[in-house]
Amino acid sequence: MQYRWLFLIFSLAAVTATPFVLSHFRNSIADPAFFNSTRVTILSWKPRVFLYKNFLSEEECDHLIKLAKSKLEESTVIDPDSGNNVKSEVRTSSGMFLDKRQDHIVASIERRISGWTFLPQENGENIQFLQYEATQKYEPHFDYFYDEKDQLRGGHRYATVIMYLSDVKEGGETVFPKAEGWKSQPKDETFSDCAKKGLAVKPVKGDAVLFYNLKPDAVPDPLSLHASCPVIQGKKWVATKWIRLGSFDSIPSPPSAVETAADIYPESITEDENSETVASVDESVEEQEL
Ligand SMILES: *[C@@H]1O[C@H](CO)[C@@H](O)[C@H](O)[C@H]1NC(C)=O
Repeated sequence: MQYRWLFLIFSLAAVTATPFVLSHFRNSIADPAFFNSTRVTILSWKPRVFLYKNFLSEEECDHLIKLAKSKLEESTVIDPDSGNNVKSEVRTSSGMFLDKRQDHIVASIERRISGWTFLPQENGENIQFLQYEATQKYEPHFDYFYDEKDQLRGGHRYATVIMYLSDVKEGGETVFPKAEGWKSQPKDETFSDCAKKGLAVKPVKGDAVLFYNLKPDAVPDPLSLHASCPVIQGKKWVATKWIRLGSFDSIPSPPSAVETAADIYPESITEDENSETVASVDESVEEQEL
């Protein structure tokens, strides 16, 4: 009899305490997906640009570069004449995509991006790597699309998150030449001449910049024009996550059956009056195996 009571009291205590014990453990384990708002600053509202200091740890940056390098090796082929490894013409460093949730580190970075942007993971494309060496740059361009075909899988690229994986000695800034009030951004001599022509973000290892290519009403924002300034000294490694308006994970069935972005947001695909300023339209989606 006594034991039965003891057992009952013990069970009750255990059931009551379990949630508290669990929440204690949850709080004490640093969640790598945690979004720390104190590290975010607003750089511009027109377009919307935000900087997150130390978004990635040193280790995460190095891990991503390691993954990128191993992808790069995959893309080298044996030259039949010399027997040497040569870089394949088909796959260059600019088209390297990771798998989604490729490993637990990638998965936690993807969760953190989602926590920061408040946009679901399924809207995100696979993380892409870009490597810039001295003199390499990316001319001013928009991340939103011109072609309806590019929008079949999830619609427009709503937001872009660029994660800087390496420090660059000189140059390589991300610059927004049309950002409102960019002239008042204080810049010392450590900025390149290119960076002095707009709102500039220096590539700092671990930092991430988030900007929106569409306005809140999903209409393309011409002020989101951006460029990667030429690298003057050093190497620049970035990982980019583009986030669509809709799900990128659900592969559309025949186009006729699909409700395209044009149906939902008719204004959003009207050609923008600034489109002639586009030097290079991003074609990376086509490089990806759909
Ligand atoms: C958030 O970031 C700030 C600045 O780096 C740091 O001092 C603080 O400890 C961080 N908070 C948490 C809960 O990690």
